[in-house]
Amino acid sequence: MTPEEMMAQACKRLRAAGVEEPRGDAQKLWRVVFPRRYDDCDDLCNGATFEAFFDLVERRAKREPMSHLIGLRDFYNHRFIVSSNALDPRPDTETLVALALEQGFSRVLDLGVGSGCILLSLLAEREAATGVGVDVSEAALEVAHQNRAKLELEHRCDLHVSDWFQSVEGTFDLIVSNPPYIAADEIADLQAEVRLYEPRIALTDEGDGLSHYRKIIAEHDPYLRAGGRLLMEIGPTQGAAVREMMVSSGLYQVAVHPDMDGRDRVVAGRKRT
Ligand SMILES: C[S@@+](CC[C@H](N)C(=O)[O-])C[C@H]1O[C@@H](n2cnc3c(N)ncnc32)[C@H](O)[C@@H]1O
Repeated sequence: MTPEEMMAQACKRLRAAGVEEPRGDAQKLWRVVFPRRYDDCDDLCNGATFEAFFDLVERRAKREPMSHLIGLRDFYNHRFIVSSNALDPRPDTETLVALALEQGFSRVLDLGVGSGCILLSLLAEREAATGVGVDVSEAALEVAHQNRAKLELEHRCDLHVSDWFQSVEGTFDLIVSNPPYIAADEIADLQAEVRLYEPRIALTDEGDGLSHYRKIIAEHDPYLRAGGRLLMEIGPTQGAAVREMMVSSGLYQVAVHPDMDGRDRVVAGRKRT
């Protein structure tokens, strides 16, 4: 088979499976397997490379996310290792990172660190800061460890298992979290790429989508230094509810911030001095 025939067959398979961008995805998968553009690969289109390419095409046809097939995802200023063990970093989450960086901090806690995309992005931008990332999922923490090593941040970043604050020690002037906020009855409506391939524990609280906010906001006080900030990512309909929780807990300067698409995405509050 020539490279052109392989690409045509791949596009046909992906289109038939309902993949949104069959040609773009096929080209990206080509680059995973072949070192050169597809119109310059006649000598390589056989045996193991042929099989490796169509193996990826078949996985994509089953709606495995492109980032999992490629193994990498660009987020904020870095390229993160991704896998099905941790939530794929979302562009929406860059809003939280940008807001956190608007002000100074020296010690940051990330609750539900996942791949490490938030915490490691923050530490990479602030050379004097140190941080702690916790997650209840050991599999997710393994991905965070890989990214910590990739960004060479081992000396400033501690990662460990914890059910929210349960095993957290010390105090922080910045606490960030992107907790699972999809309600259990909304899971069925998610794209196949998310529903089938993201860890369920990273998506939903198995309740109304707000229970993790209730817990984190109720328990944050001993860990947040006076004048410190709590920033939490939210789903677009949760701004008013999470804002109210933060105000009721005694935080002030509480505000809901939009993402790049203008949808509510982050609620931020500050502890009184
Ligand atoms: C929405 S993902 C966010 C991951 C990453 N921070 C990001 O923004 O891409 C939520 C994370 O919270 C973790 N998580 C869920 N329940 C938890 C709990 N009770 N304690 C700590 N982490 C939890 C999940 O394993 C998952 O990694």
